[in-house]
Amino acid sequence: MSALTDSPAWQALEAHQRSIATHHLRDWFATEPDRAQRHCLQAAGLFADFSKHRVDDRALELLHALAVQQDVEGWRDRMFAGAAVNAAEGRAALHVALRRPTGWPLVVDGTDVMPAVGEVLARMRTFSAAVRSGDRCGHTGRRFTDVVNLGIGGSDLGPAMVTDALQPYGRADLRVHYVSNVDAADLATCLARLDPETTLFIVCSKTFTTIETITNADTARQWLVAALGDPRATGAHFVAVSTNLDGTRQFGIESDNVFGFWDWVGGRFSLWSAVGLAAMLAIGPDAFDGLLAGAHAMDAHFLQAPLERNLPVRMGLLGAWYANFFGAATHAVLPYDQRLQRLPAHLQQLEMESNGKSVDREGRRTDYATCPVLWGSPGTNGQHAFYQLLHQGTRLIPSDFIIARQPHHDHPLHHRLLVANCLAQSEALAFGKTEAQARAELVARGATGERLDLLAANQSFAGNQPTTTLVVERLDPPAVGALVALYEHKVLVQSALWNLNPFDQWGVELGKKLALRVGECLLPAAAPMAGLDGSTRMLVERLRS
Ligand code: F6P
Repeated sequence: MSALTDSPAWQALEAHQRSIATHHLRDWFATEPDRAQRHCLQAAGLFADFSKHRVDDRALELLHALAVQQDVEGWRDRMFAGAAVNAAEGRAALHVALRRPTGWPLVVDGTDVMPAVGEVLARMRTFSAAVRSGDRCGHTGRRFTDVVNLGIGGSDLGPAMVTDALQPYGRADLRVHYVSNVDAADLATCLARLDPETTLFIVCSKTFTTIETITNADTARQWLVAALGDPRATGAHFVAVSTNLDGTRQFGIESDNVFGFWDWVGGRFSLWSAVGLAAMLAIGPDAFDGLLAGAHAMDAHFLQAPLERNLPVRMGLLGAWYANFFGAATHAVLPYDQRLQRLPAHLQQLEMESNGKSVDREGRRTDYATCPVLWGSPGTNGQHAFYQLLHQGTRLIPSDFIIARQPHHDHPLHHRLLVANCLAQSEALAFGKTEAQARAELVARGATGERLDLLAANQSFAGNQPTTTLVVERLDPPAVGALVALYEHKVLVQSALWNLNPFDQWGVELGKKLALRVGECLLPAAAPMAGLDGSTRMLVERLRS
């Protein structure tokens, strides 16, 4: 047994879970008239209804004791103070500095990092404004109409998600595209629609060594130079976002066209840095400021609110409650907003690359579950695809429903239906329909005998599926900022609960290294494939062109 699973807080939670495991949300709501009101929290413009969770006051008390035991507040405070919380790599994790008002000093290793943060942000603003106004043009003097962000993982998912989410703040005359996959179909499909004279590329890579991004950037440069007939065109059409200034120089991008950031910004937490440049071009500098302000408001809440009223703490604790004590293996994110269609993918990297680990901070193998598989897609589409399993499958799957009170469009009927479905689904998941209820309905419709039995069994819903409903007033820049920061801090909370370092990602390295070796073997004149296992060798032979 590890110190964690052997600890008093953990043991008490296990015992309490056993005592309430069969308790139904129906009963809790029936006996607690004020349950909904008592279980909601608000922060940074977000309203969260946690009442449809399988917890009573004692469970929350014990979960808070676990948070205290695991020093959640200590990890939070050390992260905000710039301590080297990413111990394996000897680094701070200071994405919160990127959305901190620039006048507030933040000293790390004797240096105030805020002037540099402010300087890059100011350069991003100037550049974005110049591109958007047409002051900054392409090689032939034509105004940019399209921006292509070449990046992958954190250098793609966050800004792409923000660009989609805040599309109403964008402009029709400046389209922003994201190309990530090394599969040339991604780049080729994008370029086929673009005019080289009016296309700006952002090569976005923290390390500037990521093979997918560098390969796409090389191909895009060839496309541009071939079309414009002048290698000097690269200077006007390529900018870079990176911490690797040697790498950007070697690629041929002048330092004036490089937007830097720092090794204390993790890739999956980097959308607030220069990595957000494509998003800033899409939505404009003022909306980008709003995004930062919303995230900062969530930071302030996370720092100041007591554990019991703290939104990221509650989300993290409830996630651990189901993962560790109910055996939940997955967690669904179900935005009732088409513009949040990319949110689950961003959160997948955020949560799964951070806490998808089985070795704790001291290098010991965990004997408890860590990050569940996160997945999801926008409602109402999911209702007509996978909700069947949520309602009548065999697994406990906690989910987050996300909805805005006001839409950006002028179609009230659509929005009413969207809201109705969002609320109805979480109601159905929580309360279900008993076999007796199903039977009564069927009898009223004339069913009898064996058919009645069969249909009653099939038309009953167990319910008791836990959900959180998150409500924003409108999906505007501050709301998106606050929402994403909420999940970032949930990750920090859970990392403390599970004693993990959420800021490294060694698990991505092995496949990258093996791909280099397999890549060599795929060359037509490759040497014998010594060292490859039988299966990989067979597949190489089949796939070698
Ligand atoms: O391989 C995983 C990863 O390192 C992610 O953590 C990161 O977001 C992504 O690759 C892209 O990295 P980079 O920005 O250095 O190209």
